Amino acid sequence: MSFPNVRMRRLRRTEALRTMLDQSQVQPSSLIYPIFVDETITEPVPIVTMPGYFRYPLDRVVDEGKVALEQGVRGVLLFGVPAKKDEVGSGAYARNGVVQKAAKKLRSQFKEDLVIIGDVCLCEYTDHGHCGVIDKEGAVQNDETLELLGKTAVSQVEAGVDIVAPSAMMDGQVLAIREFLDDADFEQTPILAYSAKYASAFYGPFRDAAESTPKFGNRKSYQMSQGSVHEALREMELDINEGADMLMVKPALAYLDIISLAKSSFDVPIVAYNVSGEYSMVKAAALNGWIDEASAVNEVLTGIKRAGADLIITYHAKNVKDWLK
Ligand code: PBG
Repeated sequence: MSFPNVRMRRLRRTEALRTMLDQSQVQPSSLIYPIFVDETITEPVPIVTMPGYFRYPLDRVVDEGKVALEQGVRGVLLFGVPAKKDEVGSGAYARNGVVQKAAKKLRSQFKEDLVIIGDVCLCEYTDHGHCGVIDKEGAVQNDETLELLGKTAVSQVEAGVDIVAPSAMMDGQVLAIREFLDDADFEQTPILAYSAKYASAFYGPFRDAAESTPKFGNRKSYQMSQGSVHEALREMELDINEGADMLMVKPALAYLDIISLAKSSFDVPIVAYNVSGEYSMVKAAALNGWIDEASAVNEVLTGIKRAGADLIITYHAKNVKDWLK
């Protein structure tokens, strides 16, 4: 059958019809709101490279938790900016580290209403800015880093974190963290693995925000090369075998094909990270009056959802209630 018997426009006629038939509606409850907590400040500090975004002092995190819930968003992802950095990233696994302190405050305020997710990585806490410990030549040491990631995860869960999300791209990190958590009797804590994490220019604004730009070299020996497809599939499969409960693809917009592959290949929730540079591009164009922000955000999130993401980590989560269709 074809035209004139078939008319595709029949089902597009009214707003109600279009809404009823929408396959990829984004709900605020499937979004995750990232929060930068900085223990060196007393007032929110604007992040220049992410217009409209701030680093928050510890005593403002509860307000940000409220912002999330008011938007209908049920999860927050915590990143820390510590007062001190050192060679081995001690701040990441300190009992009184910045993320641990933030998690305690959120936990005591929100009980089980809010899902608190901890990013597990060393780059915000090392003085060299790499995601693991380095040797004399500056090479990132995989196996030596695993124990530190395991300790970081346990200290976060002790402080009240619900889900740990390892993002260091060390081989074996999910298994190491699973073992550390189980040994500490946290066998109920899920792991959200940043499995397919590409070495991306779109992390630039985040590194500004978290002061985590590597002091030398780059992350290409541990994050994935941009053209690779088979590596993404292997990373995800390995992470499932190591005990990952959910898989992440990151960034989102330049990797929609990978999100779609992940969705069709694995029966676990797929999470996409709509990263800092993707946020800032939309924001910059909107601030210049070049695009309509609300509709652009809607379209971006719908696209990521349509590709197959069950959950989306996005800086737009902050304003999403007014913007989603
Ligand atoms: C930590 C981490 C990064 C991001 C999330 N976790 C930075 C990086 O890998 O350099 C980036 C998030 C974003 O750009 O929004 N390793």
